[in-house]
Amino acid sequence: MMRNALTSKEAIKLVKKYGSPLFVTRQEAMLENIYNYFKYFKAYKGEFCLCYSAKTNPIVALLKIFREESVLAEVCSMLDIESSTLAGYKGGEIIFDGLVKTSEELDKAVKFGFRIINVETFDEVRQIENICQKHKKRANIGIRLTFPSLRVGLKSLLGISYDRFGLEADGAELKEILEFVQKSRYLKLIGVHCHTGSNQKSAKRYLVGIDALTDLMVKLKSEYGFEVEIINLGGGLGVENITAYKVTDIALNSLKSFLKLDINYKNTSLNFESLGKEIVDYLEKKLEEKGLKYPTLMLEPGRSLIGNTTDLISTVITRKETKHNNWLIIDAGTNLMPILTLYSEYHEVDVLTKNKEKKRTSIAGPLLYSSDIVLTNRMLKQGSSNDLVIIRNTGAYFSCQSNQFLQPRAATVLTKGRSSRVVQRRETVKDILVRDI
Ligand SMILES: Cc1ncc(COP(=O)(O)O)c(C=O)c1O
Repeated sequence: MMRNALTSKEAIKLVKKYGSPLFVTRQEAMLENIYNYFKYFKAYKGEFCLCYSAKTNPIVALLKIFREESVLAEVCSMLDIESSTLAGYKGGEIIFDGLVKTSEELDKAVKFGFRIINVETFDEVRQIENICQKHKKRANIGIRLTFPSLRVGLKSLLGISYDRFGLEADGAELKEILEFVQKSRYLKLIGVHCHTGSNQKSAKRYLVGIDALTDLMVKLKSEYGFEVEIINLGGGLGVENITAYKVTDIALNSLKSFLKLDINYKNTSLNFESLGKEIVDYLEKKLEEKGLKYPTLMLEPGRSLIGNTTDLISTVITRKETKHNNWLIIDAGTNLMPILTLYSEYHEVDVLTKNKEKKRTSIAGPLLYSSDIVLTNRMLKQGSSNDLVIIRNTGAYFSCQSNQFLQPRAATVLTKGRSSRVVQRRETVKDILVRDI
């Protein structure tokens, strides 16, 4: 558990005041994550620039904190753009990513002078050029490279691959873009970019990215005369207390379920300090080997800045023992945590109860839906009605992916020391019905 994690006493107090289920974000934890990035990447000999991937959790009050700490915003939708703008971000503090960017979004990016638009297709480049002509404004662009190695994991077995993102280093489309930008009066190529994929607990894939991006920088300089100012290694760093199950974990967990064995899982550890050092050392080495100037090193993490700052508190509705399961039914459903059903991440869970006895437990939400299951077969304390259950480290991709299937979305409270305030109010049924005509 993280230092200064939400205590039982605090959780009980907050639920009394704000209701359940409730996301609770701790400002101190956000600051600790930000400072860790600055601490571990400050050794880089060039400039270091940290951005926050807004889509991970775009609550305006949280974005404001990132901005106050000199963290730029990485956006990939109009929702991200609008929430970042509401949080006070100016154009030059916004990085724009995404395979699909609408003309309305691109228009804003050009008009507001976003720091960089990382492009992924030639169509998009032509569209930006036209918008620039219309507004008589220039735009900074970066080239997003397709991530150069494909992982064989659960996602790839399910057909989820990354190859639609970015441009292939040796592809014809990249060549067309570069020739086009060479002739353009409006577009300035200032960056190279890639994203490793989420939940990385080692530097391995960042080093692969550094190889590919520095090779691209050499090609841009020698063949086209572009000297880029920014090398952006994307986001992707994991969180110590969250582990995405591998195929083998899922197979083993299924077998354990079948054999009625406890599912106890140990998170893969992560050493931020040595990982940061490895990335910085390798980048400097490659830049020197390839005769390149030190560009700004940009990172745009989401999960590792916000994931461990937030817990989801829920309340036990009832306990139900069946022939096959010992259920705890709680008031937070998978509509608040679809990421658990989709990606099967391991998160720590605490049952706050006076009962010290532990039993093999499965937890389900309140939805009349067979897949509304939060976890199965874990050794947990025996809670009963009105006890609280805390699902830990739910800051990234939980609140933002929540939906209104059967139940409105939960509120988020931000705590700072002993004070707390609502930063996103609880949704009402009226809020949901407002769209119906
Ligand atoms: C381009 C890009 N940058 C940054 C991120 C943030 O990733 P993470 O939350 O894993 O740090 C993502 C996530 O998908 C992404 O696609």
